[in-house]
Amino acid sequence: MEIREWATRVLGANTLEEKLFCPNELTDFEPGPAQFWKEPCRPPGMEFKRHSKKEKLPAFHEHRDQDKRAVCLHRFAGHELLAVEIMAHALVAFPEAPIRFRRGVANTLREEQGHVRLYIDRMEALGLKFGDLPLYRHFWSYVPHLTSPIRYISVVSLTFEMANLDFAPLYGQSFARVGDRESAALMEQILEDEISHVSFGWNWLKKLKSPESSEWDAWEQCLPPLMTPKRARGFIVMENHRTRAGIPQEWIEKLKHS
Ligand SMILES: [Fe+2]
Ligand SMILES: [Fe+2]
Repeated sequence: MEIREWATRVLGANTLEEKLFCPNELTDFEPGPAQFWKEPCRPPGMEFKRHSKKEKLPAFHEHRDQDKRAVCLHRFAGHELLAVEIMAHALVAFPEAPIRFRRGVANTLREEQGHVRLYIDRMEALGLKFGDLPLYRHFWSYVPHLTSPIRYISVVSLTFEMANLDFAPLYGQSFARVGDRESAALMEQILEDEISHVSFGWNWLKKLKSPESSEWDAWEQCLPPLMTPKRARGFIVMENHRTRAGIPQEWIEKLKHS
């Protein structure tokens, strides 16, 4: 199947099965004209809802409660589904990007589909069904800003996915602390994949930026107006995960002090 056809199917899917569909073989002979979607289609009941302050993520001290952990997993699954859709959008929006870039985004998309499945399985084991709680527009709000491959990797790989190098292990440690080994192992798997997603972003930042600008400046200039470098980190910057993604120490230091 052509990458374009697959990505269009994912964006237009109105069942979860179709959102998570991935053909065995992908070709990219006809990336076609650029397409921009205002919103992805959603399965009934999974449409974007307004986010209210009441629907906060359960605090860490509440993780002993299985239902609260399931709520966390539901929120994370929502993020993964958005990642699936944003990556599908990049594939229809940037037909002229280098083929290796498109292949990399397609691979990442497939892994994000896997993440949605992992979270669904685990939340079901904890007694919650995906779609039982509201799902939000969240990351999708930034899609209008993602007008080029370098903006895409700056915001998606090097900001949101990079922040997950801190958040995923933080939640993993908290789940482990309350004895939920399965959920902790799931967060570990997410972290491992996320390291390679960040690494993909970093490698392309080096290739796509102008030779005169530093990586840091090129990245910062690609962020939307109200997004600061802080969005690329959690409360604690876990340096070793970034080092494993190939991020140089100098960059990590700048992030730590941002
Ligand atoms: Fe993911
Ligand atoms: Fe990712």
